[in-house]
Amino acid sequence: MHKKLWIPGPTEVKDDVLKQQAKGLFGHRSNDFTILYNSVINQLREFLKTEQHITVITASGSLFMDITGRNLIRPGKKALCMVNGSFSDRMYKTLVSCGIDADKFEVEWGKAIKQEHIKEMLEKSEYDVVAVCQNETSTGVKADLKSIGDLLKNYPETLLVVDAVSSLGGDLILPDEMGTDLIFASTQKCFAIPPGLAVGIVSQKALDRTKDVPNRGFYTDLKGIFDYFEKSKQTPSTPNISLLFAFDYKLKQMLEEGAENICNRLTELAAYTHNWALEHGFGLFAEEGYESVTVSTITNKLEKDVSALNKALGEKGLVIANGYGKLKNQTFRIGHMGDHTLSGLKELLAAIEEIWEL
Ligand SMILES: Cc1ncc(COP(=O)(O)O)c(C=O)c1O
Repeated sequence: MHKKLWIPGPTEVKDDVLKQQAKGLFGHRSNDFTILYNSVINQLREFLKTEQHITVITASGSLFMDITGRNLIRPGKKALCMVNGSFSDRMYKTLVSCGIDADKFEVEWGKAIKQEHIKEMLEKSEYDVVAVCQNETSTGVKADLKSIGDLLKNYPETLLVVDAVSSLGGDLILPDEMGTDLIFASTQKCFAIPPGLAVGIVSQKALDRTKDVPNRGFYTDLKGIFDYFEKSKQTPSTPNISLLFAFDYKLKQMLEEGAENICNRLTELAAYTHNWALEHGFGLFAEEGYESVTVSTITNKLEKDVSALNKALGEKGLVIANGYGKLKNQTFRIGHMGDHTLSGLKELLAAIEEIWEL
């Protein structure tokens, strides 16, 4: 039996979207492909209201961490990674493994990364990149990107790199207004299509930076990707065309609903989940005021058995997520991104109440 995905990715994909992948293929050097790929890029541009460069790569979002390490930090310069959970820590580890001299500024998990934390570090040292996770999926904590972007305006040599893997397309994120230089996401989260594509929105400043960075590789060469696009309006290597069919189709639906409306719908789901958790004696792991719009990390104050819950939920065709990594069992997570609705959420929470006898 299919279990309806209330996990923070991959998220539930509707049947009409899934079916798009069964369309007959064409070659990736054909005009048909150029039309498809550019339709995806143009719809993303409209959805995100951005003038920046956009690429869609056949990969999961983590590739952009390697791309950051391979393209945006000049020899002899440093990166700053702001860490408040597993995924922001992955960025730090990826940069280090790319040979980058990276500093880590870590706050307690569950707390938000704030403008003042970054300011404190920028006053002490110069950085080519500051990396922030807009939506820490392990803790359910979001960052106030606008205030961070405003701070970075005073540091023109420092690029703002943002992991928005689990929030772009759900939370309202406007790269131009927020002053980001690279913001990236995966399609299996808020875009509600299967895994396999990664979206990157890149400022001209970031693209210019790549010229001063050697050893960019091939698949990870941001300059190569955009040079190729400039020349042919296509991708340098063979993309997942089937997924691009689904993405193109899904973006049309998202534009019809509208970015603000999507964010409002998900905000309502987040608030409902939070109230439910508190009413039943659980806690919220996220610092107050920084709760994610797309994933709720609930503190398991009642010490309930999350694995047993998921087993019982599975029999009802539902699944939620346990806590991530070291937060397993101490927390559990409900992913409410993509096409989820309040009525669906109420059904899920009623099922949890019945199983746990709340
Ligand atoms: C915030 C965040 N960053 C990065 C990733 C890694 O994304 P992917 O698995 O698509 O590479 C995830 C996955 O859950 C995530 O939630």
